[in-house]
Amino acid sequence: MRQLPLPAKLVISVFLIAVGIGYFSALVQLHMQHSGRNGEPMPTPWDVIEKFSGLKPHDGQVAKSKIEGIVSGPKDGAFDKNNMAPAFFGKSGKVYEKDCTTRGQDKVDAEREGERQTLIAWINADPDERKTAYEKDDFKIPDTLSGRPITEEFADKATGTAKIKSIIEERCVRCHGGDKKPDLDEYPKLLPLISVPKVEILENKYLGDKWVRTNRQLSVEGLTQSTHAHLLSFSVLFALTGLTFAFTSYPAFVRCILGPIVLLATVADIACWWLARLDEIGPVFALAIMGTGATAGLGLAAQIILSLFNMYGIRGKIVLWLLFAAAIAGFGLLASKVILPALREEESAAKKAIEAANKKEPAKADDGEAKKDNPANGGDKKAQDEGDKKKDKDAGVEEGEKKKDKKEDVKPEGEKATKAEAEGEKKDKKADVKPEGEKKATKAEAEGEKKDKKAGVKQIDKPIPLSKDD
Ligand code: HEC
Repeated sequence: MRQLPLPAKLVISVFLIAVGIGYFSALVQLHMQHSGRNGEPMPTPWDVIEKFSGLKPHDGQVAKSKIEGIVSGPKDGAFDKNNMAPAFFGKSGKVYEKDCTTRGQDKVDAEREGERQTLIAWINADPDERKTAYEKDDFKIPDTLSGRPITEEFADKATGTAKIKSIIEERCVRCHGGDKKPDLDEYPKLLPLISVPKVEILENKYLGDKWVRTNRQLSVEGLTQSTHAHLLSFSVLFALTGLTFAFTSYPAFVRCILGPIVLLATVADIACWWLARLDEIGPVFALAIMGTGATAGLGLAAQIILSLFNMYGIRGKIVLWLLFAAAIAGFGLLASKVILPALREEESAAKKAIEAANKKEPAKADDGEAKKDNPANGGDKKAQDEGDKKKDKDAGVEEGEKKKDKKEDVKPEGEKATKAEAEGEKKDKKADVKPEGEKKATKAEAEGEKKDKKAGVKQIDKPIPLSKDD
């Protein structure tokens, strides 16, 4: 390499540096696309397993039905397709305001909360009992709720029963009847919305534990496209960097190993993408992706740096050192000014999402949308991903709530006590002291609302002409 004419050396040098920069930006893209966006700079092994194998660790919680989810939100939060809770309160028509002025809002709200809790208890009742209770409009209020206030017209104190059908008709069907979707005026139409989606818990031979399928697995189409793009472009690139290194003056065995290794690791990497889709053994290959990726990255860095320094005499080397020093300084600046703040912001956003969700906030994908405005975090794709992730978290939290309700029904599930369950219990105790609606995070909520407005999400104040009360 030393004997090459200077122009050739320069071309090769610029080429190597360009490949290095290109690879670095590929890492940034990896962060954007695949990491959990919770402040981790790179995807964690769990992220990789989830993306490639389509499995994620089961959080020990149980899913809940559509309607339970949608009415469990904050009672005076945004009224949108994620939250129908206000339909029991401020969005239940003129009667509500009148009632509040005559009897006081606290009293009315407590009764409305009783309706909501009773509806949720009914949703989780035994399916046969649930159906009859609906048809006869006569649901035995479970003991856990018996002391609660509930709107007079929907309950019979003497028999301890509640009129679920009437509650749904009064609170929901005025907007969800006839051609207004979803139509909630008959039991068969309600059924899919009050049924809990099945969660299949998988045992993995190699990873043990409990796993569930996720919807974040990369699609076959996406993988095919990445495979051909990566193989065609990287094989040329890494052949050239490998060849450059092969012509240096390092010992032959070093060149024999380091020369082809990047290309080999890339091929192995792509093979693992596909093998990760196998049953059982798949996640092991997914983990191997971390190894092949790291090998390719480090190998490439070594090839570029060693080749560059091998090409030049002492003066060239000084120039190279200066260039590297400048690059490191530049990166340091970038890291402290842009990268770390961006990561920290992601971290706090992720934390906030969890907090909000824990406080029974229906965390919304809108959060992600609002982020689009922020240039520091890479735009749409990211926002999209963040939205997805949040939805996932959301689902998780909803599941936790379900567990809680289940417990109120005192149905021993036969499942071993998990952390999530313990947390559910904690919530239970809280819930006993205070009616659900009150333990709500006003701060997080206000923020959610702000974001809603920013993101231009239409709030459905009067989406459907309210024929009855308004
Ligand atoms: C004031 C009118 C109104 C009332 C009352 C109301 N809803 Fe809704 N609901 C809507 C509108 C409008 C949408 C569609 C929102 C959208 O798609 O943006 C909707 C959507 C829904 C959805 C579908 C969400 C989705 O993912 O597509 C469900 C389920 C739902 N409501 C359940 C209920 C239940 C249960 C009640 C009673 C507790 C209720 N709604 C009360 C207006 C209402």
